[in-house]
Amino acid sequence: MQNECKCNCNTADDPRYVELKAYIDSVKGNEGIAMSVLQEAQTIFGYLPLEVQKFISQNIDVPLAELYGVSTFYSQFTLTPRGKHHIGICLGTACYVRGAQKLVDKFVAELKIAVGETTEDGLFTLDATRCLGCCGLAPVIMIDEDVYGKLDDVDAIPGILDKYRG
Ligand code: FES
Repeated sequence: MQNECKCNCNTADDPRYVELKAYIDSVKGNEGIAMSVLQEAQTIFGYLPLEVQKFISQNIDVPLAELYGVSTFYSQFTLTPRGKHHIGICLGTACYVRGAQKLVDKFVAELKIAVGETTEDGLFTLDATRCLGCCGLAPVIMIDEDVYGKLDDVDAIPGILDKYRG
């Protein structure tokens, strides 16, 4: 299957582009498809690098600047690669007063990255979040869909990370 991208990226042999093109073809002609195509692209690629946005722009006839504006405006989109596991440390008020900053410091030290970054091995992305809605468990973190509450002992963190390293 040949794609019709004109942006000089090597898309024809990459199954991710083939999958994205198939999705675009399935929704082409519908109103306002940019958002859903960007969502699909993020699901397929894990993030939205510029070459993917160029590919989308060429294939749905929406200016690259417009796609870039959408992808940087909505927090659900990311332009940098995300780790296999997402760590969210709640910095809402209840968690903050119960010592969330100590959790941040420990994760930063363990993973050797700053908040917002991804480890070199691509395993973890570290983020601070707003209230996760379970303040009674403060301080709270989430790793992917797993919630860890009452995390008062920062020394538990290496063991928690090991569960995701296996
Ligand atoms: S403030 Fe952390 S869960 Fe609400």
